[in-house]
Amino acid sequence: MELPDFVLMAASIVGFIAICKPLVGLVKWVWAMFLRPPKNLKEYGSWALVTGSTDGIGKAMAFELASKGLSLVLVGRNPSKLKAVSNEIRERHGEQVEVKSIVIDFAKFSGEEIAAFIKEGIEGIDVGVLINNVGLTYPYARFFHEVDLELMGSVMRVNIEGATWVTRSVLPGMLEKKKGAIINICSGSVLLPSYPLVTLYVAAKAYIAMLSKSINLEYQQYGIDVQCQFPLLVATKMIFIKRSSFFVPSPETFSKASIRWFGYEHGKICSRQSIMNDKCRQSGMWLILRGQESKIHRASASDDPSTMELPDLVLMAASILGFIALCKTLVRLVRWAWTMFLRPPKDLKEYGSWALVTGSTDGIGKAMAFELASKGLSLVLVGRNPCKLEAVSNEIRKRHGEGVEVKNIVIDFAKLSEEEIARMIEEGIKGMDVGVLVNNVGLAYPYPRFFHESVLPGMLKKKKGAIINIGSASVLFQSYPLFTLYAATKAFHYLWQRR
Ligand SMILES: NC(=O)c1ccc[n+]([C@@H]2O[C@H](COP(=O)([O-])OP(=O)(O)OC[C@H]3O[C@@H](n4cnc5c(N)ncnc54)[C@H](OP(=O)(O)O)[C@@H]3O)[C@@H](O)[C@H]2O)c1
Repeated sequence: MELPDFVLMAASIVGFIAICKPLVGLVKWVWAMFLRPPKNLKEYGSWALVTGSTDGIGKAMAFELASKGLSLVLVGRNPSKLKAVSNEIRERHGEQVEVKSIVIDFAKFSGEEIAAFIKEGIEGIDVGVLINNVGLTYPYARFFHEVDLELMGSVMRVNIEGATWVTRSVLPGMLEKKKGAIINICSGSVLLPSYPLVTLYVAAKAYIAMLSKSINLEYQQYGIDVQCQFPLLVATKMIFIKRSSFFVPSPETFSKASIRWFGYEHGKICSRQSIMNDKCRQSGMWLILRGQESKIHRASASDDPSTMELPDLVLMAASILGFIALCKTLVRLVRWAWTMFLRPPKDLKEYGSWALVTGSTDGIGKAMAFELASKGLSLVLVGRNPCKLEAVSNEIRKRHGEGVEVKNIVIDFAKLSEEEIARMIEEGIKGMDVGVLVNNVGLAYPYPRFFHESVLPGMLKKKKGAIINIGSASVLFQSYPLFTLYAATKAFHYLWQRR
């Protein structure tokens, strides 16, 4: 092997790996999304603690965990809502599931107070799963300086201090038994480069993402799985979308999917920022900014933020387009799998009982001749070397007996004129029902034109026939240096057969 061959081979290997990478990614995604069995959460411990469990995602998560047989510590600010949720869970799951409540308003208590409440509440309980779900955002988008001080304090305390102090209180028990799962409910907004007009909320969530990544590294070695999840839109009171749809799941649907991921990909989900390129991200941010700004104006005019305006529609349209693009790729993949592995081959004898193969004394042409003979087609073999032609014919006759007739035509495409080639082919196939033509010969000038006057008329007359042109993958590249002439003729061949 010389240097250029070596370089070409290296380039091919790199290209092959580049194709394999997204395929492997897709297979992994399908596995994780649809096939991978969920972890048995009871292995972490018999109790789960859920913050913000009186509504939305937290409430749905509590029901889902109870259905997996875990007992629950529900944390919320509203005692009557906590009682209602506890009763509903007990009614649904009977004695299988114990439920305990801790009343904490994360916006009102200090970190130390939160820690003391939690510590007292979980005394003697084997908490294996902690879901830091509690969250609070602004009721309307607004500029940073316009957020009133009370709301500012609440957003930081609920989102940042809530998760931090509850984790700090639950961790020692997990460390002691060397197992546990901590799931922090973050927000998809963190995956964007910036998220103006809900700045404080998204900055608090970015804190949660970093906290998750870092404690995951600290405690993985002690059997504690830390995972940060990034919901996009979920139909809860937080985002004023009450009805779920294909793009906005209900909290129940989200919780089911969320629990399937517990214990897997810990710490890793945070690294998805690279999904979109910078330009896309910047235009996305512009759209969001405009959308949120319109909400500010609306908020001052009326108190109902729930109706959809143009920028929301633009965002939704963009999501739909993205979804269509994904579907297109999937459809292509399915088509490819069908064509490559599943589609039954045509019965070539329906085209006619003879096949003509050029360049049939060696390589692909020879193999093609054998394959066609194995399908019961008789053969016209075209080649420049009479001895090699004879040898191939004899071999085919020996293998397939009388079921397959073989006829040879000796033509050197490089030496004869176009008219001579046409005449010899015409004479050679006189009276024969040639249904399949394999233009395989690979070292000549544009010979396909000559056949137009010899093989094609027969096919045209019976209105059927198959022509297979053996091209080269070289036409799929921008250029193919060092094999220029060969690649150029193959490119001609390719374009010609497409016209
Ligand atoms: N919904 C979405 O589209 C979305 C998107 C991305 C991320 N998230 C995140 O998902 C998590 C759950 O949100 P959600 O949509 O389910 O919101 P939600 O329906 O508003 O529920 C929030 C829960 O937190 C509780 N809570 C709020 N402030 C509290 C406080 N000061 N002290 C104690 N509990 C308090 C609420 O209690 P009450 O019942 O008393 O109100 C409720 O149980 C949040 O962390 C949120 O940031 C949601």
